[in-house]
Amino acid sequence: MFLTINQCSSTEPRPRPFVLGIGGTTRPNSTSESALRRALSLAEEAGATTEMFPGQLLSLPLYNPNSLYRTNEAEALIDALRRSDAVIFASPAYHGSISGLVKNAIDYIEDMREDNRPYLADRAVGAIISAYGDQAIGSTLSTMRNITHSLRGWPLPIGVGINALRCTFDEDCEPSDAHVDSQLRIMAQQAVRFAQMIASQRLSPSSCI
Ligand SMILES: Cc1cc2nc3c(=O)[nH]c(=O)nc-3n(C[C@H](O)[C@H](O)[C@H](O)COP(=O)(O)O)c2cc1C
Repeated sequence: MFLTINQCSSTEPRPRPFVLGIGGTTRPNSTSESALRRALSLAEEAGATTEMFPGQLLSLPLYNPNSLYRTNEAEALIDALRRSDAVIFASPAYHGSISGLVKNAIDYIEDMREDNRPYLADRAVGAIISAYGDQAIGSTLSTMRNITHSLRGWPLPIGVGINALRCTFDEDCEPSDAHVDSQLRIMAQQAVRFAQMIASQRLSPSSCI
C-alpha cells in the first residue's frame, strides 16, 4: 500500500518487510532449498516476514503468455510476488545457468507487467546459487543478476555461491561452512534493509526524498 504522511521522521518505525523466497529443486531439502530456508530465517531475525515457494511448489505448467488460465499454484506464486518487498531466488547451477524449474517460475512474473509495480520494480532481489564446483557458480549468479535487471529489480550487492561438494546443511538448515552462513546473513540483512528504505520512501512526502 502506498501512503502519504505529513511528516518525515527518520525514527518512524518501519513496517516489517515481506521477503519472498523462491527456489530449490524437486528434491526436498536440496542444497539450494536448505540455503533458502536459512536465508529466510535470517531475514526474519532481521525483522522481515517471509514466505517460501520451494521446488515442490514450482512444478508449474510451462509459462504460456497466450493463455489467461493459471493453476491455483501459479496464482498463489504471482499473488505472493505482488505482495513482496524483496525476493530471494535460489537455484542450482544446471549446465552453467539457472535450472529450468526456477526459470519457468520466473517467467510467470510476466503476468505482472501491467502492475503499479511492474515485474520486480522497487524490490531488492537476492540470489543463492549451489553447484558441484566453483566455475558454474559465477556464470549462474551472473545470469540471475541479468534476469533481475531485466525485471527492473535491484540485485543485492551480495550474492551467495555454495559449492555443494564442500558445504552441506543439517536438518535445521544450518550450513557446515560458517562463511556460507555469514554470507547468507549479510544477504538477508541487505534484503530487509533495502526493503525498509523503499518503504520509507513510500511513506515520505516527496520533499523528504
Ligand atoms: C541437469 C544438471 C546439470 C548440472 N550442471 C552443473 C554444472 O554445470 N555445474 C556444476 O557445478 N554443477 C552442475 N550440476 C550439479 C548441481 O548444481 C548440484 O546438484 C546442486 O547444485 C546441488 O545439489 P542439490 O541441490 O541436489 O543438493 C548439475 C546437476 C544437474 C542435475
